[in-house]
Amino acid sequence: MSDLKNIVIFGSGGWAREVLGIVEMINRQSATWNILGLLDDDPKQHGSVIAGQTVLGGSDWLYEHPGINLVIGIGSSITRKQIAERLMVQFDIVFPIIIHPLAYVGPRVSLGEGSVLHAYSVATVDLQMGRHNLLNVGAMVSHGNRIADYVSIHPHCNVSGDVTLCEGVELGTGTDVIQGANIGSYSIVGAGSVVVKPIEACCVAVGAPAKPIKRLAPPMFAPAAVPLGSELS
Ligand SMILES: CC(C)(COP(=O)(O)OP(=O)(O)OC[C@H]1O[C@@H](n2cnc3c(N)ncnc32)[C@H](O)[C@@H]1OP(=O)(O)O)[C@@H](O)C(=O)NCCC(=O)NCCS
Repeated sequence: MSDLKNIVIFGSGGWAREVLGIVEMINRQSATWNILGLLDDDPKQHGSVIAGQTVLGGSDWLYEHPGINLVIGIGSSITRKQIAERLMVQFDIVFPIIIHPLAYVGPRVSLGEGSVLHAYSVATVDLQMGRHNLLNVGAMVSHGNRIADYVSIHPHCNVSGDVTLCEGVELGTGTDVIQGANIGSYSIVGAGSVVVKPIEACCVAVGAPAKPIKRLAPPMFAPAAVPLGSELS
């Protein structure tokens, strides 16, 4: 009997292909996963073949496959949270942690279920990352970081020590965050920004130094007006 573990990827867009690529590279290094295919709730996608994998169906497919490993191939923090929370309630699923063979995870780094670490991403030492986080290609997080759930850290970001990133934060490509510059829940920092001061929840901030340019409506599920950082214990 094969020791390979069955896995499906939720999503069929560009991000799902990225995640699929990581799972394939893990298998190249050491045969680990039996990739069954992709899932997408858009019926138009069902039966199509994307990057060599068939879209097997939508969420309902999971009723027939209890205990399946599933990784969410969605880049948006809010959408990833909505999907994860819905699937968790409805189905018996395992969310494995997926780490590209070329990622570096140092000592005393804790990673939560469903997190995906891309090639050349680095989690240096002594830091906590919650569930369903995304550490994209070449991104670095470091000592003392407290990273909540559903955080998306896009390519080539650098997060200095002792920074808290609250739930659902998205850091655009190439963002730098200096030490202690915490970011509140569901805020988005524009690509190429430099965060030198704390950023409140639910804003879009851009530039060097990064400044808020827009307020965002808090997602329906977000806790009401919690002070910056208090989501984390
Ligand atoms: C910040 C961001 C979310 C803003 O998107 P938006 O809400 O649609 O905002 P707009 O495009 O309307 O831009 C609003 C203003 O901010 C400026 N702006 C947008 N992004 C900026 C950035 N990254 N740096 C500096 N200024 C930026 C725009 O030029 C515009 O300025 P103006 O009002 O003087 O014309 C988006 O531009 C961005 O950078 N997203 C990150 C994308 C990314 O890295 N994805 C990772 C994929 S792997």
